[in-house]
Amino acid sequence: MKKYNVAIVGATGAVGEKLIQLLEDSSIAINELHLLASARSAGRKLIFNSQEVTVEETTESAFKGIDIAFFSAGGSITQKFHQAARDSGAIVIDNTSAFRMDPNTPLVVPEVNPEALRDHTYLIANPNCSTIQMVAALKPIEAAFGLDRVIVSTYQAVSGAGLHALEELEEQTKAVLAGEEPKANILPSGGDKKHYPIAFNAIPQIDLFSEDGYTFEEWKMMNETKKIMGLPNLKIAATCVRIPVMSGHSESVYIEVEKDGVTADEIREVLKDAPGIVLQDDPSTQTYPMVITAVDKKDTYVGRIRRDVDNPKGFHLWIVSDNLIKGAAWNSIQIAEKMIEMALV
Ligand code: A2P
Repeated sequence: MKKYNVAIVGATGAVGEKLIQLLEDSSIAINELHLLASARSAGRKLIFNSQEVTVEETTESAFKGIDIAFFSAGGSITQKFHQAARDSGAIVIDNTSAFRMDPNTPLVVPEVNPEALRDHTYLIANPNCSTIQMVAALKPIEAAFGLDRVIVSTYQAVSGAGLHALEELEEQTKAVLAGEEPKANILPSGGDKKHYPIAFNAIPQIDLFSEDGYTFEEWKMMNETKKIMGLPNLKIAATCVRIPVMSGHSESVYIEVEKDGVTADEIREVLKDAPGIVLQDDPSTQTYPMVITAVDKKDTYVGRIRRDVDNPKGFHLWIVSDNLIKGAAWNSIQIAEKMIEMALV
């Protein structure tokens, strides 16, 4: 069996931590694991498979001999180093939004569009976390009944904004409980003018605003869903909201199917056996997906499935998954595993 030299760029970050953990239970046979971050972290020791690995600074020469490079250090770092990695012969699996809408870059959720991997040019984009869990659940429904429209509202965890945002949530929570004024420096977006506390709050802004009143996070969900599902004419609108949860994104999703006469039971039937999906849907026992049961798991959980009161082709669903796992690290690892299976790496 071939063994691979693997690098993680952003190994000290929220997604990087999960990549290190999850690579331990992946099917990828690893020869060497290189942990890369900024110069600030060089020399730090992290544990992989019970062994210490020293963090190195990300430089162009750090990719020599690497077969698979996972990037999760922000779009600017991907822009700066992807070419060096590709030139060294590595497959880059990028968790940032830098190349997701590039027509020459496959944007892949392995349960949904694995065939897109065949067209890679040594760079594959891992979709936005909220998009991944939604398309994983919508693909089997679309395959069975067609899909005409999607309206999604998200309830997104703070870990999606990185480790510093998580620290801020903790500090703000302690401050509020101690009767002090919470300090806000990161959310809703590090790059925007104003910052609001996330503790005991819900912020209807993730990423910056575009001129049309949608945020870039909302545009990511709308554009990426069309690209991954191969449905350029899908009607879709998103509202993305940050809530004070550490990890695990929840989504209220309204869909309209194309086929007439579909029932909620038929949708449950299709989802029951779908790859990567766990159906949790029984109001009589108060069974439905929740962040506290979905966190640290690789699957996407779906429940609260019901027909719209007014539109017989409309259905409502509640979709929950761990944004750092299926929404980021695990989907990236699945991409690598799939490429190995398809003999593309
Ligand atoms: P570092 O810890 O050395 O700053 P998060 O999304 O949780 O905030 O993590 C961001 C990740 O990106 C961290 O691993 C961070 O490393 C890494 N990173 C930030 N700036 C750079 C840089 N200039 N070069 C390489 N990695 C970087």
